[in-house]
Amino acid sequence: MNAKQLYMETFGCQMNVNDSERIVTMLADLGYRATSQASNADMILLNTCSVRGGAEEKVYKRLANLRPLKKAKPALIMGVGGCVAQQEGNELLQKFPWLDLVFGTHNLHLLVDMVRDAENGERRCETAFIDNEQRLDLFPPAKGNSRVSSFVTVMQGCDNFCSYCIVPYVRGREISRRSAEIIAEVRQLADSGVQEVVLLGQNVNSYGLKTEGEPNFARLIRMVAEIEGILRIRFTTSHPKDMSDELIACFGDVAKLCGQIHLPVQSGSDSVLALMNRGYTRASYLDRIRALKAVRPGIAITADIIVGFPGEGEEDFEQTLSLVEDVRYSDLFIFAYSPRPGTRAADLVEELGREQKVQRLERLLELQKRITREISESLLGTCQPVLVEGEGKHHGQVSGRLESGRIVNFPGDPGLIGSLVEVRIVKAYQNSLLGGKYYDLTAEGAEEKPESFAVVQVPCFKRGNPLEDQT
Ligand code: SAH
Ligand code: SF4
Ligand code: F3S
Repeated sequence: MNAKQLYMETFGCQMNVNDSERIVTMLADLGYRATSQASNADMILLNTCSVRGGAEEKVYKRLANLRPLKKAKPALIMGVGGCVAQQEGNELLQKFPWLDLVFGTHNLHLLVDMVRDAENGERRCETAFIDNEQRLDLFPPAKGNSRVSSFVTVMQGCDNFCSYCIVPYVRGREISRRSAEIIAEVRQLADSGVQEVVLLGQNVNSYGLKTEGEPNFARLIRMVAEIEGILRIRFTTSHPKDMSDELIACFGDVAKLCGQIHLPVQSGSDSVLALMNRGYTRASYLDRIRALKAVRPGIAITADIIVGFPGEGEEDFEQTLSLVEDVRYSDLFIFAYSPRPGTRAADLVEELGREQKVQRLERLLELQKRITREISESLLGTCQPVLVEGEGKHHGQVSGRLESGRIVNFPGDPGLIGSLVEVRIVKAYQNSLLGGKYYDLTAEGAEEKPESFAVVQVPCFKRGNPLEDQT
């Protein structure tokens, strides 16, 4: 029998990307194989995001334009999972009669059963939260794969309730995975050839704090660093208020921990930070940045910023601009504030219209572009360690990342994939770098290769093009 085709589209953050990987693994047991073409799929699943109004709208538009496929092939199974599913639940089945199943963020373990029911014509919606220990047993296993870099979920959910944010409502309470299971998963990934792990969670640096007998996040990183075969460790996302001295110290003495951190600041103004319920001030944030730079000079720092939050006056915005100048982020993800249903900020009066928010967004973007360019240009002519992750788009090219997360394309053979090489940076683009000569750090008698080039623009680390999907 031919394998059935599963087409999955993933919106939102890395947590969704990781969940989609789990889903694909689980549904393989039912005979579904992933395809990149919706048009001939037997099942279409959208793993969705509702962090901003724009992200939610995108899902509805996509559902509408997938409808003809269902009409043409009534046996096609269509499902929605993730954060919009969690938020809207049964409403989705009502609004979109061509949908077969809706599964929430805590219900991945029910999916196989739901798909079986859908194959028999039964429409189901499952969005119950499991906010207790039982949830720890319901992390479907992630199968080893042959990639170079892999996500490993260490915790899920969020208890911070920033006043603008829907995540605590759609992801539920914070829960840390058992360290023994995390370590076993990383070992298994290392055995299958993975060289880099990205430890994942909505707020990774509060890992273990509420679980007796488990290490804290700094300890967990040190445990992961001991695993043979793992060359690089990254993590995302951290909250500035939980950025302990102990965790910062890891950047000083854990060589495998990449010199890169995503530390969302959201605003440079104390009054806006207080309205956002962020739990830190401009000064305490800058203190953490100083400490990070002191233990790891050259560390690449990125952040998220929201512009146009209710109460953000021109002066507050200027405070954000000056903070960005101060920190010198290697990249920024800037979003226009979008009120979300059920959050505390949704009740605040918005003074700024869309156009004014976009203006602030663009001012900040301009500033960041300059800083990013200056940082990239400072790398010209230097040699940098690059973990080769795949082929470049152009023939004869491979692509990898600096420790900072910046993409480097350079001439090389696909046989280099999975090696750590030292590459000379010859050109800087907005979102990527071009490398020239390289030296294989992992090969014996590392040899110099001839230079040639082609250019591929690849989105930078984290969430793709920061210009996309900002509202
Ligand atoms: N847990 C992570 C990610 C949260 S969502 C963290 O705390 O950093 C990713 C980003 O989306 C946030 O950092 C914030 O900048 C942005 N965001 C969240 N809610 C938003 C809203 N209502 N409007 C605009 N941007 C928002
Ligand atoms: Fe949202 Fe704040 Fe939690 Fe991040 S820390 S997920 S911004 S509530
Ligand atoms: Fe979006 Fe849900 Fe992630 S709302 S940002 S997909 S946790």
